[in-house]
Amino acid sequence: MKIHLSRPDITDREIEAVCEVLRGPNLSLGPRLAEFERAFAEYIGSKRAVAVNSGTSGLFLCTAALGIGPGDEVVTTPFTFAASATSIMMAGAKPVFVDIDPVSLNIDAAKIESAITERTKAVLPVEVFGNPAAFDRVCEIARKHDLPVIEDSCEALGSALNGKKAGTFGTMSVFGFYPNKQITTGEGGMILTDDDALADACVSLRNQGRGKGGLWLAHERLGYNYRLSDINCALGIAQLSRIDEIKAKRRQVAQWYREMLADEGRLIVPAEPEDCELSWFVFVVRLAEDFTRQQRDRILEQMKSHDIEVSNYFPPVHLMPFIAEQFGYRPGDLPIAESASERTIALPFHNHLTKDEVATICRTLRHVLDKDMAL
Ligand SMILES: Cc1ncc(COP(=O)(O)O)c(C=O)c1O
Repeated sequence: MKIHLSRPDITDREIEAVCEVLRGPNLSLGPRLAEFERAFAEYIGSKRAVAVNSGTSGLFLCTAALGIGPGDEVVTTPFTFAASATSIMMAGAKPVFVDIDPVSLNIDAAKIESAITERTKAVLPVEVFGNPAAFDRVCEIARKHDLPVIEDSCEALGSALNGKKAGTFGTMSVFGFYPNKQITTGEGGMILTDDDALADACVSLRNQGRGKGGLWLAHERLGYNYRLSDINCALGIAQLSRIDEIKAKRRQVAQWYREMLADEGRLIVPAEPEDCELSWFVFVVRLAEDFTRQQRDRILEQMKSHDIEVSNYFPPVHLMPFIAEQFGYRPGDLPIAESASERTIALPFHNHLTKDEVATICRTLRHVLDKDMAL
């Protein structure tokens, strides 16, 4: 039996909540939308929440609401999912990549300042694998330069730094609800902000540029259709109501991995930073420094041949050919991100994993490592 990298956790109550919407008259722009936004804003502790149809559209709408466009630069991290950077490019702006901290794998706060120019219009940090480490420092630097922060919290629902929740650091923040996330709406995202003008702009932009209370065919600006249907919102409301239970299940799986791999010197096993509460998104181990990318790729293939799904989270974004070519990045430009990227192995991680499955994965990984080192 194949062990999958991720799997959603959907209860009968959640299926019923979706069916209830399907039986009613409001499939979109109905009461579940406002309810989901209210519940989400309350959970995070933000003034406003604007639901959208993906994390990517949420990030892009942040750039649009902040008036970022051609000729502008946004400072961001190369060690993330591509959408953090491509959302900047969708606005016609240039992502300026800054190397990462070797432990947290987040953007290195100390390196942000030297990347800021007169064209910089925002900083876009990412809570990579749900880790909000140093987000207070990142925001302090941005504030010093009068720059808004777009906080990419797509992986960090329920994480906190010194008791302050992920999603409350930035001027605007964005969560994603793809099925591998802590909660899912199938597809979906949420923009959060305490700024009413920015929230109102996002409400209009996601709905074809319509105005507040205006007529259906009165479009006040260039807008998009990034609405999240009530079907998705119903699922999101029900999932969010279980967030503590979901976090606890994931914490247990991470704990099993940590216990079973504690003595494995060939791996760097993720830990919860002292000042953070981590809402576990994935379980990504790193091979020790002396492993090569070729070895890592062989190990990934070997794990897959044992029916265990694994992945190379994340390839460095600045070296993706369409980005490297456009902005002139070359191998070696951001050595810490590149080195980390070459040695990551994302292991299966979801709410349904059993202790026996985690044991099988760890045993197989050790066996594959032994075999590869004997080559
Ligand atoms: C860090 C990060 N940013 C952005 C996204 C994009 O979210 P979506 O897939 O909902 O567009 C994701 C996840 O997929 C992500 O992990």
